[in-house]
Amino acid sequence: MPVLGVVTAAAAGLVVLLLLAVPTAVARLFPFFWVDLAAFGALARSSVRCRRRLNRQPAVTLLDVFQGHARRRPRWPLLRFQDEVYTYEDMDRRSNRAARVFSRRLGLQPGRTVAVFLPNDPSYVWTWLALAKLGCPMACLNCNVRGRALQHALAAAGASLLLASPELQAAVEEVLPALQRDGTRVFYLSSGSPTPGIEALLPAIEVAPDEPPPARHRAGVTAKSKAMYIYTSGTTGLPKAAVVTEMKLMMVANLARLCGLRPDDVIYTTLPLYHSAGLLVGVGGCFEVGATCVLRAKFSASQFWDDCRRYNVSVIQYVGELMRYLCNTPKRADDREHGVRLALGNGLREKVWREFLQRFGPVSIWEFYGATEGNAGFINYTGKIGAVGRANMFLKRFAPFELIKYNVEEDEPVRDERGLCIRVRPGETGLLVIKITQNTPFDGYAGDSQKTEKKVLRDVLVKGDTFFNSGDLLMIDHERFVYFQDRVGDTFRWKGENVATTEVEATLATVNFIQEVNVYGVAVPGCEGRCGMAAIRLKPGASFEGESLYAFTGDTLPSYAAPRFVRIQDALEITGTFKQCKGNLVKEGFDPNIIKDPLFLRDDKKKSYVPLNPDTYAAILDMKLNL
Ligand SMILES: *[C@@H]1O[C@H](CO)[C@@H](O)[C@H](O)[C@H]1NC(C)=O
Ligand SMILES: *[C@@H]1O[C@H](CO)[C@@H](O)[C@H](O)[C@H]1NC(C)=O
Repeated sequence: MPVLGVVTAAAAGLVVLLLLAVPTAVARLFPFFWVDLAAFGALARSSVRCRRRLNRQPAVTLLDVFQGHARRRPRWPLLRFQDEVYTYEDMDRRSNRAARVFSRRLGLQPGRTVAVFLPNDPSYVWTWLALAKLGCPMACLNCNVRGRALQHALAAAGASLLLASPELQAAVEEVLPALQRDGTRVFYLSSGSPTPGIEALLPAIEVAPDEPPPARHRAGVTAKSKAMYIYTSGTTGLPKAAVVTEMKLMMVANLARLCGLRPDDVIYTTLPLYHSAGLLVGVGGCFEVGATCVLRAKFSASQFWDDCRRYNVSVIQYVGELMRYLCNTPKRADDREHGVRLALGNGLREKVWREFLQRFGPVSIWEFYGATEGNAGFINYTGKIGAVGRANMFLKRFAPFELIKYNVEEDEPVRDERGLCIRVRPGETGLLVIKITQNTPFDGYAGDSQKTEKKVLRDVLVKGDTFFNSGDLLMIDHERFVYFQDRVGDTFRWKGENVATTEVEATLATVNFIQEVNVYGVAVPGCEGRCGMAAIRLKPGASFEGESLYAFTGDTLPSYAAPRFVRIQDALEITGTFKQCKGNLVKEGFDPNIIKDPLFLRDDKKKSYVPLNPDTYAAILDMKLNL
């Protein structure tokens, strides 16, 4: 049947042609189709891997993955700290001994939460493993928290046992009587104790037998079990204990793998371990792939690259501020002599991103966006500088998110006449909300249903739906690239305009006499919104030049965004992750009667920033002086 043969051949030809043509046509029409699909594929594989492990009976948790590496490559270094090296086997055994002491000596029962109050050092890692082996969640207290906030943090996680370091002796002793009254037991994980009434556990741990604790301790652990509590530092108020389930723990540890972390990598972590970036992405990433972590007690800009060379570091972890500090160090001839190929982190601004690459060479930067308690995030997988990721149409099916209109002044989403939220158009800034589904659950905050409820937004697109409120303002451009704009709290309104503090900061940071700057809004009687104020630290040896700052801000910033007040500080207060603290500054405002730092006022008549004295201050309060 020749005719049919010809037809078949023609059809086959057409199919081949189509198959060849379709990818190029798709690529032309949707330039990011294939990268989007590939990224989705990688994420889906990762998600399936986590689900499969945790749905087994008994569940295979991150601890089991770590133990697999410890069996296969016992002598491989897991952790380097100063001159110490801990192999996978060392850590496995050490955590067995610690588990033995926690369980036999302290009578720790499976499922009981234990709080750790430790700086970055190896004990953090073996304590984590030991508690996991006993089926006990670990509450990771922020080392900067003190007093009432510390007590609150312990209570929120329901922890009745506190393991601390004598490095934090003063903070521990401050709350000790209150903790003892509540029945919370406190121990140091060190060899000696400087505090009467607190026992040091290390001597007992060192002589304990190192066989693994019986498996029954964690027989009840499932995907939904609470593995950890990680505290998120709200800009105001008390710390919130975000629940990290076993599933979340594994998904976040897999983030490092998604970004390309390999078993032969050495990852350098200077971020505090009480946050998810350092602990879950860094150390957890090593547990997941079997890599090595170099831990440092505190970030040091001057030691950073020397450490990278000394330990053969191939991957670094950052937050945006850390990269800025690195770019601010004096240039050196060996700036590009290092083996770092990958940087993982978040909060990197476009300008610093470019500067970093230019100065330190071709490092592949994986910028991601996500909150510890959040139910989804973004990763930059396309190499677009400045973007945190893409609004990938495939991912959107998996984790439906929206950017909605937000009223900055009222601090709440704008709603239409039906009471539903309104999507923003491409190029417009909106509040990121992520639908709460089975794939993207929101585990909430421990011991605080009110705060949990506050992060849940209802009736977003249809009546009855629920979304996680990220509290972040983002923008999606016409090519679907996603850009982080601001924390909701980092924007204030002045003269009817939104002022993004981070933008003003980025501009002021380029002034030749300014070393560091923190911008915020202060309330002024008789004025709507908040008035811009900048706390600055001067470069060593430099002096404040009011006229030149006036001229510069006039040229580079919209008039509403130029700070009305300037406060000169010797040091700017920062959090453990190098975020600037605004809370106290906002509270202190611009009152020269209480603030001892030099204060300046933007004076449009003199075209300068002039000293703010109590008389001028009184005139502002009496509304005799127009801002
Ligand atoms: C770093 O690599 C060099 C060369 O491969 C090696 O000699 C050195 O021992 C390594 N250092 C560490 C800390 O692994
Ligand atoms: C993200 O963008 C940077 C800048 O171009 C690039 O170096 C890096 O490789 C990108 N990340 C990924 C995962 O492609």
